[in-house]
Amino acid sequence: NIPKQITNEAVKPFGLTDTKDWDLLRASLMKFKSSSLEVPLVINGERRYYNDQTKRGFFAQTNPAHHQQVLATVTQATREDVKDAIQAAKDAKKKWLEMPFYDRAAVFLRAADLVSTKYRYDMLAATMLGQGKNVYQAEIDCITELSDFFRFNVKYAYELYSQQPIESSPGVWNKAEYRPLEGFVYAVTPFNFTAIAANLVGAPALMGNTVVWKPSQTAALSNYLLLTVLEEAGLPKGVVNFVPGNPVEVTEEVLSDRDFAALHFTGSTAVFKQLYGSIQQGVVSGIYRDYPRIVGETGGKNFHLIHPSANLPHAVLSTIRGAFEFQGQKCSATSRVYIPKSRSEEFLKDMAGTLQQHKISPVNTSAGSISGGDLHGFMGPVIHEQSFDKLASAIEEAKQDSELEIVYGGKCDKSSGWFIGPTIIKTTNPSHKFLTTEFFGPILTVYEYPDDQFTQVCQLIDSTSAYGLTGSVFAKDRDAIIQASEALRYSAGNFYINDKCTGAVVAQQWFGGARMSGTNDKAGSGNILNRFVSVRNVKENF
Ligand code: ALA
Repeated sequence: NIPKQITNEAVKPFGLTDTKDWDLLRASLMKFKSSSLEVPLVINGERRYYNDQTKRGFFAQTNPAHHQQVLATVTQATREDVKDAIQAAKDAKKKWLEMPFYDRAAVFLRAADLVSTKYRYDMLAATMLGQGKNVYQAEIDCITELSDFFRFNVKYAYELYSQQPIESSPGVWNKAEYRPLEGFVYAVTPFNFTAIAANLVGAPALMGNTVVWKPSQTAALSNYLLLTVLEEAGLPKGVVNFVPGNPVEVTEEVLSDRDFAALHFTGSTAVFKQLYGSIQQGVVSGIYRDYPRIVGETGGKNFHLIHPSANLPHAVLSTIRGAFEFQGQKCSATSRVYIPKSRSEEFLKDMAGTLQQHKISPVNTSAGSISGGDLHGFMGPVIHEQSFDKLASAIEEAKQDSELEIVYGGKCDKSSGWFIGPTIIKTTNPSHKFLTTEFFGPILTVYEYPDDQFTQVCQLIDSTSAYGLTGSVFAKDRDAIIQASEALRYSAGNFYINDKCTGAVVAQQWFGGARMSGTNDKAGSGNILNRFVSVRNVKENF
């Protein structure tokens, strides 16, 4: 019953000779650079701007590579606006849930096609300029992963709806009805992937839910563009209500509403813990009709474990990509490496040699990635000043700490953009906080272990994994692979063998982790859709 063949969207290579792609991209970049856009709230399809009334403020979204350049003036929702957004979501619900699934699905399939065709270059430009990505990182985010989420969710929803009670006694017909949740869904979305925002909103909406969406302020430009694409694809008014604003105020309004039915979140562990606690408190105090669903993905302290038998050049390239692509601002990014003593010198020398050939530069001139094409502009800026300051102070701390040695990088420059160079820090302390703290930036910590202590190092990694998101083992020795896989069963929800621990592809590597990394509901799989339906069983006697 699947409406069409669904496959992963292909990445456009943006090679040096792809002149037409570059011209189209340049035109979109120029468009966003030459005028600052006003990003409104969108409530029941109506636009509300900060200057409509004096009570509403605005947030200036700047280009992290050129922090003086304002890209968008983002309207900030007042508490009244949020109340209106909640009401709009409730009002739109009946019509949306009664709409045949085929028609809801059509909106997302059409949006995926628009993103990968008509709006491809605008989506790329908004994500590159606003979120500090090079074109390759933007392609794999706001084009391929985003459209894959929309398309594969449709396929998975078909599969889910077709799961029906298998037994019916004679004269009886049983069926499962996949109702959307009663109430509305609150989507809190991060800056680092436009695709993640799309899925946090799109997965519940596809299943017949309506959504109040609080985007990240620093991704408002691309996120608003995405909403306009969904509207062009036929999304009815009120199904998704877009309310950028003060996170505390928006969240307080949402979590105090009786009809709050689910949180769909990606962001920091600290914020997720707070929201989790508030929702539980709300349940205990009887605010809600239901037990709200909590679906969240937070951070990680993701590892590369290198065995003495590993192919070292491959481990080096994989580690550079895992740790430093998109400046390490992926929840999945490699941030600690365990290397056998006998191979450490060669590993660190190769890491340094390879990194020296790669440039850090403003995103709008960059192309390609380390894996091919033009290597200029391999890395760009980190997202904002707070992030820059946090990373710069971690690097300063490393300089003062006798258990840490900066073996590569450590350069920070905020004169025109928020640039932190790729930084490798070695530690002699196996439980040092640099091996357990998530920095969310281009800082990689390396620990050397004695070659004959592979078993112990597996135990060490597991015991220092408060998070459980991603991790990799690099080895040729099959026994070592099995040993690591078993010992690290709960240390990573996405476990890779001889590959970097980033870059999960929708429908191929189902993404998510347990422990403090989240609820592990697996984006890019059918599991996530289950969280946004509440099944009714119907028995009928003939
Ligand atoms: N899903 C993204 C990755 O795997 C975050 O890198």
